[in-house]
Amino acid sequence: MTRSWPFPQDLIEALHRARHVAALTGAGISAESGIPTFRDAQTGLWAKYDPMELATPQALRRNPGLVWSWYEWRRSLVRQAQPNPGHRALVELEKRVPRFTLITQNVDGLHQAAGSHNVIELHGNILRTRCADCGRRVEQWEPPAEGEAPRCSHCGGVLRPDVVFFGEPLPQEAWQRAVEAAEDCDLMLVVGTSAVVEPAASLPRIVFHRGKVLVEVNPQETPLSSLARYRLAGPAGQVLPALVQALDAHRAQKGA
Ligand code: APR
Repeated sequence: MTRSWPFPQDLIEALHRARHVAALTGAGISAESGIPTFRDAQTGLWAKYDPMELATPQALRRNPGLVWSWYEWRRSLVRQAQPNPGHRALVELEKRVPRFTLITQNVDGLHQAAGSHNVIELHGNILRTRCADCGRRVEQWEPPAEGEAPRCSHCGGVLRPDVVFFGEPLPQEAWQRAVEAAEDCDLMLVVGTSAVVEPAASLPRIVFHRGKVLVEVNPQETPLSSLARYRLAGPAGQVLPALVQALDAHRAQKGA
């Protein structure tokens, strides 16, 4: 049962009128699918593992087998996960606005699994694998020896998940499309991100400096909270479905 959030009427009106809605999502939208976030105290991945040991090009060079097995563990979590009502609400919202751009920092593919179209994956996708040397995408490989990473059958390089490690550039085309959306949208939903990792965290600031509507959906405050015109302090899996319901009710009333 979706909790009926007391949304400000002018937020629902802004959503109703928006020509182009953008959404920037982070690990928080997948938390209710059972995938750990990165920075939540105790439960976040970085509370237990050192990102510098596991998610950097240096770590991959130093210990490819450790990096590979850690990502294999994360892939196993992702494969068991299902989209939650938060992901599905964004699919519904996409149907209700003239133009919708979904930008995600997540690598779990759950937005696509929920039915979202042309998802911009700023940090790649953990279910894809590529060669660290020749860059080829690889679908299958010889199982590696214990503690080793599998090798590219073309050039012999180590294989790695097709995700952006700390210190690596974002995929150029994805970043360009995300900036274009931030520069064009009338409203941006910022859902489930601690907004501390650049350059993704600069996208909502572009929207703010254009004087457009920024809506934060997060149980916790973040560095973006002071810029948000609306802060919806709750879990995405409850807030987003309620937001779509409120939009439908608003339109039904106007239509009446
Ligand atoms: N609904 C909405 N937000 C939630 C929920 C929920 N159910 N549960 C947790 N959150 C919020 C937390 O309050 C936090 O602000 O989600 C945010 C998760 O923040 P992080 O763990 O830092 O994840 P994220 O912002 O996506 O990290 C950005 O950092 O480690 C890198 O590349 C990685 O893409 C990741 C990037």
